Amino acid sequence: MIVRTMPTLEELTATIADAEQAFAAALAGLDSLAAGAQPAALDALKVAWTGRKAGRIADLMALLPSLPAADRKTFGQQVNALKQRVEAALTEREATLAASRRPAGAVDLTLPGRRPAIGHRHPLSLVREEVQQIFTRLGYQVLEGPEIEDDWHNFEALNMPAEHPARDMQDTLYLASPVNAVPQAPWAAGAAPRARAPHPLTLLRTHTSAMQIRYMEQHDAPVRLVAIGPVYRRDNLDLTHTPMFHQCEGLVVGRGITLAHLKGTLLAMAEALFGAGTNVRFRPSFFPYTEPSAEVDVRCIRCQGGGCAVCKHTGWLEILGSGMVHPAVFEAVGYDPREVTGFAFGMGIERVAMLKWDVGDIRLFYENDLRFLEQFAV
Ligand code: DAH
Repeated sequence: MIVRTMPTLEELTATIADAEQAFAAALAGLDSLAAGAQPAALDALKVAWTGRKAGRIADLMALLPSLPAADRKTFGQQVNALKQRVEAALTEREATLAASRRPAGAVDLTLPGRRPAIGHRHPLSLVREEVQQIFTRLGYQVLEGPEIEDDWHNFEALNMPAEHPARDMQDTLYLASPVNAVPQAPWAAGAAPRARAPHPLTLLRTHTSAMQIRYMEQHDAPVRLVAIGPVYRRDNLDLTHTPMFHQCEGLVVGRGITLAHLKGTLLAMAEALFGAGTNVRFRPSFFPYTEPSAEVDVRCIRCQGGGCAVCKHTGWLEILGSGMVHPAVFEAVGYDPREVTGFAFGMGIERVAMLKWDVGDIRLFYENDLRFLEQFAV
């Protein structure tokens, strides 16, 4: 026979105290969970304790009928009191969780911001700007000009008549149909071309020298300008050639301008571009639009003249063509060569960039490879 002994009231009270401790421990256990996991765990805790069928409190209540009548009331009150404390604790916890829940679509203003990617100028723009600044400081006007040119400005007025052999290297990118409108540049505003009527534009300009003509046709001497921009030739892509590249043209015209002014100006430019003490060398050359003509080299930046692969062991790097403006050019634009003289030069922007930063392949400037371009962030 199984004798079932009735629990004493003390034992029952102790059971309630144990239950309360277990609940407190379970509630505290929530803290060790990740914030995201807490609401579900709290729900489970609620079911486990206050669930009507299998909850711990319902289990305690179920003991009531088996108790001696005298103890029922006290035990019942104790269980009820426990139930209220448990429910209050659960409600409070729910409220705390709800209060700390992130509202939908919330933005945390205390997070550090994400920096926008900031670009920087292209190396060719850096050189272009540097050249512009150098000549602006020397009192030059900085111009651009049309990229589509006509035969007159690109060749004829520069003393390169049709069939002139000097055209051969540049007799290249013609347009199928001539364009007649000459864009009005700010520097030409209001002025009417002096020497000739506008010509149909028929080729992509092969050099910025055409701007010498455009400017002188519309302005009297004195002239002090640089014209910078893209030029086009039918060159195949290789380490040092692209069919489009950039030039900086310089032109100074006035009374008594001499080769000494040319030399002094180019030396000042070379020192500004490549550093104080940079040497320049003038080599006799030929251009139809200058007489005399010179090609200008700078002391090799890499080896300082000792001889290296960059300068092909000559100690010098060619950077531009130049000379004293040919009288035939002055005549073409209506200047009197007995009154004025002048000098001109044409420099490759890419070439300067390649020398300045020791870039071995001109194509890098056009491939938009960030691994290359990001090296020029300033
Ligand atoms: N136009 C020449 C070229 O494209 C460069 C040049 C040489 C420009 C001599 C000049 C100059 O103004 O005087 O290669």
